[in-house]
Amino acid sequence: MAFFEIKHLNKSFGGLKAVDDLSLMVEEKQIFSIIGPNGAGKSTIFNNINGLYQPDSGEILFKGQNLVGKRPDQIAKMGIARTFQNLELFSHMTTMDNLLLGRHNHMKTSILGVVALCFKRSKAAKEEIQHRRKVEEIIDFLELEASRDQYVSNLPYGKQKLVELGRALALEPELLLLDEPAAGLTQEERDEMIFWIKDIRDLLGITVILIEHNMQMVQNISDRILAINFGKPLTEGTPEEVLSHPEVISAYLGEEVTQE
Ligand SMILES: Nc1ncnc2c1ncn2[C@@H]1O[C@H](COP(=O)(O)OP(=O)(O)O)[C@@H](O)[C@H]1O
Ligand SMILES: [Mg+2]
Repeated sequence: MAFFEIKHLNKSFGGLKAVDDLSLMVEEKQIFSIIGPNGAGKSTIFNNINGLYQPDSGEILFKGQNLVGKRPDQIAKMGIARTFQNLELFSHMTTMDNLLLGRHNHMKTSILGVVALCFKRSKAAKEEIQHRRKVEEIIDFLELEASRDQYVSNLPYGKQKLVELGRALALEPELLLLDEPAAGLTQEERDEMIFWIKDIRDLLGITVILIEHNMQMVQNISDRILAINFGKPLTEGTPEEVLSHPEVISAYLGEEVTQE
């Protein structure tokens, strides 16, 4: 049984086939990257995995269980956490509070429910202490001590991205979906992000599926890469194989290739 597998996934928006008969297989503790030009369907794959969208057809199997038909909160509880291409944080809350929210299901659609749950739970002091302890561990792990009690809106963008990563880790996932974690980061922040993602896999044993636009990062970090275009797989293999593939190179021509 594969750790994570997608079989013949299809998703259209009106006449547009955003994901077209896409299959992939990820082994436990791999860092598996999905690359492709803008609009290739990468984020749509994540939205189908975590239940924000329902596929038109296909299967999404996590440790043998089909995720299709499940809600985002159910999928989160099964051990799949994600970050978003554009930051989805509570900017007027502290780092600590954002991570505490990550202990619960943190989907956008149930924000009010989550906040209510948080208040209710704060009465259950014992449980609250456990949550705080876990969050402190993550703050330690990502070296976010200095940002701990700061409002997220006051932090530099690179730190905000790290807080979002921390919030996903607060769910204690087995599978982590990262949608362009290095977008908008400086070279230095990007190198740091590479370091954190490797540590998450190496030290926490979490399997990572990464969507990334920066080729240097993808090459550096991935065990396997799947290149897609127009929702369809182009090729899959090791970083060397995929990044030297003629169709991959031509799919990126005319695009600003982020190589710096
Ligand atoms: N909710 C939606 N409604 C309509 N079209 C969408 C929606 N989400 C994505 N798309 C379209 O699907 C295609 C793939 O988008 P996306 O998955 O965001 O691409 P990528 O993440 O690879 O840049 C794009 O043409 C995009 O406009
Ligand atoms: Mg995207």
